[in-house]
Amino acid sequence: PVSVSALLKSRIRTVRDWPKPGVNFRDATTLFHDPEAFRATIDAFAEDCAKQEIDIIAAVDARGFILGGALAYKLGKPFALVRKKGKLPYKTVSEDYHLEYGTAAVEIHADACKAGDRVLIVDDLIATGGTLLAATKLFRVLHGEVIGVAAVIDLPELGGSKRLRDVGLKVHALCE
Ligand code: PRP
Ligand code: HPA
Repeated sequence: PVSVSALLKSRIRTVRDWPKPGVNFRDATTLFHDPEAFRATIDAFAEDCAKQEIDIIAAVDARGFILGGALAYKLGKPFALVRKKGKLPYKTVSEDYHLEYGTAAVEIHADACKAGDRVLIVDDLIATGGTLLAATKLFRVLHGEVIGVAAVIDLPELGGSKRLRDVGLKVHALCE
């Protein structure tokens, strides 16, 4: 039988020189387009979730929502949105993070979790880890306990998964 990792890798498209020359962009849209691979992804996340107590599934704008929404539905858990700055209508907490050029910011609603809630944060891909680190800080501001992060793809040479482990997070990535 093919491993989940091999299946998913075969369904992720690589777009060369996007968004700029020299970058090999790992494009998960082709995985989302394949029902078998999409289901295998969500099932693998759900299996990992069964090993721990989780109160809230959170996910990162934009591709993380596709994964996190499906996972929250499958597990019957509350779903919290980590959005790019300026999109959420109610009171928010906000965290800036560094991009290769300049900075960006992510936000969650101030009532996205309660003190002590155990939160898992989902995204499609870990590169530098800056996005998931900023998302983690947001829930920590609300005294949520971020127990880990789940991603389809880790790019280990960019150091993001190590950075996340270094701040005490469990990192569950389905392929490298
Ligand atoms: C991508 C990806 C992750 C993040 C990973 O999103 O979906 O969220 O970058 O990079 P990092 O580990 O270096 O932070 P992007 O910012 O391109 O946003 P999008 O989903 O709105 O396209
Ligand atoms: N794919 C998707 N998002 C990303 C990538 C990538 O290759 N690199 C940094 N963010």
